[in-house]
Amino acid sequence: MRNERLPLPPERRAFRRRLLAWYDEHGRDLPWRRTDDPYHILVSEVMLQQTQVDRVLPKYHEWLEKYPSLPALAAAQVEDVAETWRPLGYNIRPRRLHDIAREATTRFGGTLPSDEATLLSFKGLGAYTVGAIRSFAFRERAAILDTNVARVLFRVFVGKGNPKAHATRKHLWAVSEALVPRKRVFDFNQALMDFGAMLCTARKPGCLVCPMAKDCRSSPLGK
Ligand code: ADE
Repeated sequence: MRNERLPLPPERRAFRRRLLAWYDEHGRDLPWRRTDDPYHILVSEVMLQQTQVDRVLPKYHEWLEKYPSLPALAAAQVEDVAETWRPLGYNIRPRRLHDIAREATTRFGGTLPSDEATLLSFKGLGAYTVGAIRSFAFRERAAILDTNVARVLFRVFVGKGNPKAHATRKHLWAVSEALVPRKRVFDFNQALMDFGAMLCTARKPGCLVCPMAKDCRSSPLGK
């Protein structure tokens, strides 16, 4: 890793300001951005883990009509749940969701808790999904890191090295935690997702129009 230090407060502020301004102009209007229901957020984030937004959209609506709440999902037959999911692939995911729904129903009366340690104690909930639930549903100042976000933060704040190395991944979590603002946490984390999916893409990043370019450690226009 070329750069292991955390961004300084002025760098954090510049990144937040630029990202949110970009998002206000270019961010996508998606149905899971019009809710703070923890169950709806959970369903969308599990669906989006390995599947493109376009394919998730129809299935997200169908799913919530069929299983409108955690207790409704918990009461469904697991084979029925797996069948509803099938076109999305990666068929372990509906079974995990079903397990989470059962656990939420037996342990928490059909709701999801907001507390980090309790969420992490659920079988099937990892650090990314827990950060997403806490920041999107409960508006807590929680960080997220998935493949897209890791690529963005690696490019801007680290530069050279192996982005997938364990130590780098750990550092990128710390960077994400340092960046997440007190206000507009929801928008900030959603903006990171869109920025990675739309501008700072894996193959063809839009450095020429990127608001981060001059301070980015990977941009041809950067330092
Ligand atoms: N991919 C994973 N989570 C997402 C979200 N909330 N919005 C768009 N794409 C995503």
